[in-house]
Amino acid sequence: MMRDIVQLTSAQCNVIVRCAPAAEILYWGPRLRGFSPEDIVSLQRPVANGRLDVDLPLTLAMEYGRGQFGSPGIEGHRSGYDAAPIFTTTQADVQDNTLTITAEDAQAGLRLISELRLDPQTDVLQLRHTLENLRADAWQVQRLAVTLPVPERASDVMAFHGRWLREFQAHRLTLQHGGFIQESRRGRSSHEYFPAFILGESAFSEQNGAVWGVHLGWSGNHRLRADIKTDGRRVIQAEALYLPGEITLAQSESLTTPWVYAAFSDAGLNGMSQRYHTFLRQSLIQFSDDKPRPVHLNTWEGIYFDHDPEYIMQMASKAADVGVERFIIDDGWFRGRHHDQAALGDWYLDEEKYPNGLMPVIEHVKALGMEFGIWVEPEMINPDSDLFRAHPDWVLQLPGYAQPTGRYQYVLNLNQPEAFAYLLERLSWLLGEHPIDYVKWDMNRELVQPGHEGRLAADAQTRQFYRLLDTLRQRFPHVEFESCASGGGRIDYGVLERTQRFWVSDNNDALERQTIQRGMSYFFPPEVMGQHIGHARCHATYRRHTIAFRGLTALFGHMGIELDPVKADDDELEGYRHYIQLHKTLRPLLHSGTTWRVE
Ligand code: DGJ
Repeated sequence: MMRDIVQLTSAQCNVIVRCAPAAEILYWGPRLRGFSPEDIVSLQRPVANGRLDVDLPLTLAMEYGRGQFGSPGIEGHRSGYDAAPIFTTTQADVQDNTLTITAEDAQAGLRLISELRLDPQTDVLQLRHTLENLRADAWQVQRLAVTLPVPERASDVMAFHGRWLREFQAHRLTLQHGGFIQESRRGRSSHEYFPAFILGESAFSEQNGAVWGVHLGWSGNHRLRADIKTDGRRVIQAEALYLPGEITLAQSESLTTPWVYAAFSDAGLNGMSQRYHTFLRQSLIQFSDDKPRPVHLNTWEGIYFDHDPEYIMQMASKAADVGVERFIIDDGWFRGRHHDQAALGDWYLDEEKYPNGLMPVIEHVKALGMEFGIWVEPEMINPDSDLFRAHPDWVLQLPGYAQPTGRYQYVLNLNQPEAFAYLLERLSWLLGEHPIDYVKWDMNRELVQPGHEGRLAADAQTRQFYRLLDTLRQRFPHVEFESCASGGGRIDYGVLERTQRFWVSDNNDALERQTIQRGMSYFFPPEVMGQHIGHARCHATYRRHTIAFRGLTALFGHMGIELDPVKADDDELEGYRHYIQLHKTLRPLLHSGTTWRVE
């Protein structure tokens, strides 16, 4: 017999779900003492005059068809038909603290499977939907969002805005009427709107107040909303944002949404972050082994495109001397890449720069006891490249329209099987023929008119990016990856499942980094936050900072240096050595301990 009321319990939280006739979260918050399903009767609400004659539940799918007038959780149609589905639960199972609810609308020919998992130790609640088309004609999906109710006292919003060089800027507002909405159509999680926000009691702070955090683990287009209904109830919605016509479900085809990660804390923002951090450490982040996070040197701001293997080897020697453990050659190593206007797509070694191949540099790096890493930007193509000249049709585009370049580049259509196979072959050559331990995977352009075979394909592009990365991870399980997109343009739990580090920002100005790193720390633990000591005079802002301020700012993450150590004077070198050593002493604690932010 199907259970109507299911109570999920974790260390400090409860989630109570009415499964039938429709899936509805009745409660998400601190542990209830002595709860019994009969108590649910007390939640019954009177029906107000001037409204529908029934009180409508806030279902997980928030169906418009029921008479919900707010933002629907599901929108779509079958050539105009079957456009207002209502789901009725047919099955509900609980296993391993995961509730799976299957519901159908036989009239509309749709099945909806909703999964809710409450992590027993960390209290993080994961939710997602899978929608299946049961009929012969295609069903066009416009929206499929997870809907989560929050109590009326969740009145304040904290969210993050930003831009290149200024990621994770926190801002706050009070919600009294209407709602708060945050969207990205940039084809990545974006610098502008990190796919997360926090609702909380008025004046919630680092230490105090009830807060409800929500994050969408997805690296593509997204929409997050918090809405106040006119009867006072409040809901959060989180979803991948689908462009018109992007998702069509043929018979028996299904669509699974990204996971939504929600965390409640009644001990303010620190409590929420600590739950997320512990959850990620236990359940999501996969390092290639359990050694300490190696200290990096990244060549980018040291030499940019000016690659000379002899000189790079000198840099490596100096790096090892100050305590660096992983040496990463950034942009500029492949054929014709002398500046940022050409060569993306031509993933062959530049033999003019490296006449003896990469091996002498790699062997030198390894002989110094360091790991070796390299930069790639596989999803992109410069119009000035051999690849583009041979395959102009491999660009992600809609026919008949011109689109602007971004950093002089277009996006490669990963849905095009030949383009995907080419990238897989070239990256497999790179990782298979060289003893490479680490890849910095960059993505420096947004998607504009992202088309495949004449239809919009941003969502499919994100899925193919995951597939490419997953295939490489299977082939080369010892290789770790960093997610970079002009700094912090692709930071989220979807990509974190597949990578081990983020390049937080192209801004190495320690003063700016304090704010950026703080913002990121709400949802990410220090060991995945790439933080580098940059030049004394920062390249992004031209501001000057002491080595002490730069060293201490880079200390609290996955540390590195990004400069030319050959040109550094003795005081600077001594500074790098000192802060790298300090980091090595402290990283066992920093990378496993509990993070506290003060006001
Ligand atoms: C943008 C990245 O954020 C930088 O760190 C660097 O890798 C450049 N791209 C290289 O083009």
